[in-house]
Amino acid sequence: MFNNPLKARGNMTKKIIMALALSFIAFAFKKDDTNIVKDNFEFAAKQLTYALEEITLAIANESDSSIHARSEKGWSELVSPRSLEPDGSLIMVPSKDWCSGFFPGELWYMYEYTRSEQWKNLAHRRTIALEREKYNATTHDMGFKMYCSYGNAYRLTGDTVYRDVLLKSAKTLIKRFNPVVGSIRSWDFGNRYNWKFPVIIDNMLNLELLFWATKETGDSTFSNIAITHANTTLKNHFRPDYSSYHVVDYDPKTGEVRNKYTHQGYSKESAWARGQAWGLYGYMLCYRETGKQEYLVQAQKIATYIFSHANLPNDLIPYWDYDAPEIPNEPKDVSAATCTASALYSLCDLDKENAQKYKKWADTILENLTRSYRAPLHSNKGFLLLHSTGAKPFNSEVDQPLVYADYYFLEALLKKDKLEKGVNF
Ligand code: GLY
Repeated sequence: MFNNPLKARGNMTKKIIMALALSFIAFAFKKDDTNIVKDNFEFAAKQLTYALEEITLAIANESDSSIHARSEKGWSELVSPRSLEPDGSLIMVPSKDWCSGFFPGELWYMYEYTRSEQWKNLAHRRTIALEREKYNATTHDMGFKMYCSYGNAYRLTGDTVYRDVLLKSAKTLIKRFNPVVGSIRSWDFGNRYNWKFPVIIDNMLNLELLFWATKETGDSTFSNIAITHANTTLKNHFRPDYSSYHVVDYDPKTGEVRNKYTHQGYSKESAWARGQAWGLYGYMLCYRETGKQEYLVQAQKIATYIFSHANLPNDLIPYWDYDAPEIPNEPKDVSAATCTASALYSLCDLDKENAQKYKKWADTILENLTRSYRAPLHSNKGFLLLHSTGAKPFNSEVDQPLVYADYYFLEALLKKDKLEKGVNF
């Protein structure tokens, strides 16, 4: 057989190029996978530095028309970024806003990862701007605000200044508990819906502050209230398929359920994506703090509901509501995905039998967020992730960055890091 040496050499070159290309792709994926935590924290360091510049400008320059304030009291009250308006302007909020604790929390996570005094000082400054909230009994969002900021501060520094504020916050939060209902009241608004004692699934996250207060003081009042609230929610918020209602309204005199609703979801009977994430995280933390099997079972069932849902996209980043009518032409909610990923990493540690499955889901979420949802550097006023949805029915914060999406993103990355290094968390 006649062999053409030139052709043979050409084929060999092609094979070598192909082999090199394949090993490059494999290396790139491996690198991507093994460095996902480092890569995102390096990105966050630059992006949050830019965010701090934007925030400083926002607070200093009252007349800056690119800043949108969610405060009736004026610019001096603004403490934290929350989201962007559709025109790209920054939404800043005062300490009373439910989102005020997430940005300080992100800065504490930067400190946790880098151990740099610079991040610690920045985090401290943003945290103490929230102190007055310790006496604000008009909201159930105390945990979101104070545990994400002061809670991380105390966990990472052990400074009792933070502890005192946290304990006062926990005492204020339990004023909203009604023993007849067996729940902490979520919202004070709702007259226009004829609500008497609305409780939302989101409220589960605020229980972390109460479990902490009992561990810190030995006073079981706090954890008893948290457990009662978790049991009442378990009984009334969930459907037979383990999806949850957003709002359950109770009669505060009898404890009877008056009605069930949605506020931020598509419809009363739909599964609002972030609500499912709050539920998963909430029962994960209740199991972690109490060891009660029923809470683990609830978290397992919620995870199964989410990850077997026909409307969950392949990238595992959900649309804003699992029953949104125009799927796949609906906005996504990255915040639901980051909160879910963080809860799943914790479950890896708590439910070892299913750990592999949880880790695979959480890793897939983080990989896809890193690849396709990150804001370009020095854009979007310093938010880390794009494509979250705050309240679609009100056309508010639709397909925008949200500060809590970023907070749970960093939290999930830290947990992944610790899990892979065998460090407790
Ligand atoms: N906790 C309010 C929300 O999830 O939008």
